[in-house]
Amino acid sequence: MEAINASIGFDKRMARQDIDGSRAHAAMLAQQGIITNKDAEAIREGLLTVLSEIEGGTFEYSAALEDIHMNVESRLKEIIGEPAGRLHTGRSRNDQVATDFKLWVRDQFDAAISGLDALISALLDQAEAGAGMVMPGFTHLQVAQPVTWGHHMMAYVEMFARDKSRMADARARMNESPLGAAALAGTSFPIDRHATAQALGFDRPSANSLDAVSDRDFALEFLSAASICATHLSRFAEELVIWSSAQFRFVVLSDRFSTGSSIMPQKKNPDAAELIRAKVGRINGSLIGLLTVMKGLPLAYSKDMQEDKEQVFDAADSLMLALAAMTGMVADMRPNAESLEVAAASGFSTATDLADWLVRALGMPFRDAHHVTGALVKMAEDRGCDLPDLSLEDMQSVHGEITQDVFGVLGVQNSVASRVSYGGTAPAQVREQIATWRERIK
Ligand code: ARG
Repeated sequence: MEAINASIGFDKRMARQDIDGSRAHAAMLAQQGIITNKDAEAIREGLLTVLSEIEGGTFEYSAALEDIHMNVESRLKEIIGEPAGRLHTGRSRNDQVATDFKLWVRDQFDAAISGLDALISALLDQAEAGAGMVMPGFTHLQVAQPVTWGHHMMAYVEMFARDKSRMADARARMNESPLGAAALAGTSFPIDRHATAQALGFDRPSANSLDAVSDRDFALEFLSAASICATHLSRFAEELVIWSSAQFRFVVLSDRFSTGSSIMPQKKNPDAAELIRAKVGRINGSLIGLLTVMKGLPLAYSKDMQEDKEQVFDAADSLMLALAAMTGMVADMRPNAESLEVAAASGFSTATDLADWLVRALGMPFRDAHHVTGALVKMAEDRGCDLPDLSLEDMQSVHGEITQDVFGVLGVQNSVASRVSYGGTAPAQVREQIATWRERIK
């Protein structure tokens, strides 16, 4: 029974939150005349002693006492005696655990938001340095049109900024205090739930005691925001793995975030990127795990809910680590401007520019221009050359009205510079976006 029942092995991570919650509760009980000021003072002092034992590593946890709540209260009893027994007036472990866990998860929202800020600023630095650096843009991992390194980095800034805003939304929604909901029905003691809510930094007490003790939406929302964020990290990590390969050579990752091989001396493996790519597996697993625990639970508290913590702890640890590793890797990595430009020009990446030119210069309908360009691409392909390598005569053999001017749009630099539509890849556009984001995250 003890082996399946005890949660102390993991919920000891909420020791500080448990003590903060108890201090707020005890102070309120005294304020309301439910316990004496003397008892409240003894409880306060005692709890601080317990906290210092926990932080100093001298606290002895007992599995027989089941969880962090009982461990703290039992030690408090040893230290201060009888007043310790008055602390649990007007509350239950059901509202206590919900409160502690909310405080813990709230800190994780804050940590994720600052982790994302650091990553976004590393990306902005990369984007700024490479705002005009051309690289191939892909669809289906086939060369599509030239873009800029800055534009590509800024795409991730958008994603991670959405992650931040998802975390901030969820944090605002969860910030209601369950404390004082007691076991499920509220309490007959004249407690002041507004006071404890305020003392613990909550916006208000939760309005329904049944909901307060059975709600784990905040944990699910954290896991879901974490899963989406981890998905973004994983996609970026995948690109870094591809880009750092000898076949691409788009980017050089620093030695700090790579490893060598024990047998192949030439190897430099992107291990940090691979592990970031993998972390999403655990985080998604935690989300599905907790959704599955919660589905079908009747109101209010059931012991199933004790299974919430390990999922969230593991996901939070994985996310913070992945964010920190990605931030370091982004800050250190060096794009290879030369390989990027050569790759940008390959694969007929300016075919769309050619088609657009036929529309603009010759007034051709786009569908016809697409057809003419297709024939020119085919010709270049047959000759094993790129579009700018075809002569004017070659071009005119496909369509007689093409003029020398067409060569002006076939270069990759011209191609990116022309994409000036809002949100487009033109360096001028990208620089504007960088400036806007720098303002926003200041
Ligand atoms: N260890 C429990 C948990 O993590 C604390 C709440 C227990 N409540 C109860 N009525 N047994 O959920």
